[in-house]
Amino acid sequence: MRKTRVPFDRAAPFYDKTRGLPELVMRQSVKTLIRELKGCKSILDAGVGTGRFAAPLQKSGFQVVGIDISRAMMEKAAEKDVDNLVHSDACLLPFKDSSFDATVCVHLLHLLADWQEALREICRVTREILVSMSYERYNPLREGYNRLVKSLGYESRRLGKGEGQLKDLVKPLKTVFIATYDVQADERLMHLSRRVYSSQWTIPKAINDKVVDELKLQFSGQSLPKELWIIVWRTKDVQAYFNNFAERR
Ligand SMILES: C[S@@+](CC[C@H](N)C(=O)[O-])C[C@H]1O[C@@H](n2cnc3c(N)ncnc32)[C@H](O)[C@@H]1O
Repeated sequence: MRKTRVPFDRAAPFYDKTRGLPELVMRQSVKTLIRELKGCKSILDAGVGTGRFAAPLQKSGFQVVGIDISRAMMEKAAEKDVDNLVHSDACLLPFKDSSFDATVCVHLLHLLADWQEALREICRVTREILVSMSYERYNPLREGYNRLVKSLGYESRRLGKGEGQLKDLVKPLKTVFIATYDVQADERLMHLSRRVYSSQWTIPKAINDKVVDELKLQFSGQSLPKELWIIVWRTKDVQAYFNNFAERR
């Protein structure tokens, strides 16, 4: 029996509009991804979602297979002509050992209470590298949201560790800077007010409204800096860490 799952069916209609990167940053991200995946042919995109990265990677000539537990998200990926989409849980992958040269895994692990299991599975099916992306700047708006929600007796949902936190556990092969850019607090406040982020889906609307009103007083009109990095691990390093982890338990 699987622990709690956070499928994104409800987010499929608005995911790309609310999570999109500025055009230049997206271009730079894809360029950097392609460079870091050089030498790899077959790629698993674990938690492929709407195919944000699978689509351009496939266009660049990689053989991409995307897996996700949300059919609605994968329908969006199919609309972008992502060919190989499999409805599957990242913790139980329907692939033989070492099926892929690399796995791309972006913004998935924080959704899984059993994120270690997903990593173990990803390592089992991946020969060479695991590649992810992470925001590396303190986000005062998000922290403010979490703090205010907590003060009202609720908790923003974050079940597992983020890929960015994984680099504190397993030393990456490399981290590659992509870009810094500003986001407008007003846009993020609008997203928060509409509860577009999965961390908000367990917060009642009345509580959310109260928190967002408070945040508007603090953040309206501000620009917030973001900083995006790519992180690359050797699969065998991640595997070694989790083998030790299993022994320690
Ligand atoms: C935040 S989205 C990220 C999508 C894509 N990687 C991106 O960066 O645009 C997370 C995706 O993971 C999927 N997901 C959640 N739990 C999963 C699981 N256990 N196995 C596979 N996919 C899962 C969700 O349905 C969603 O499409």
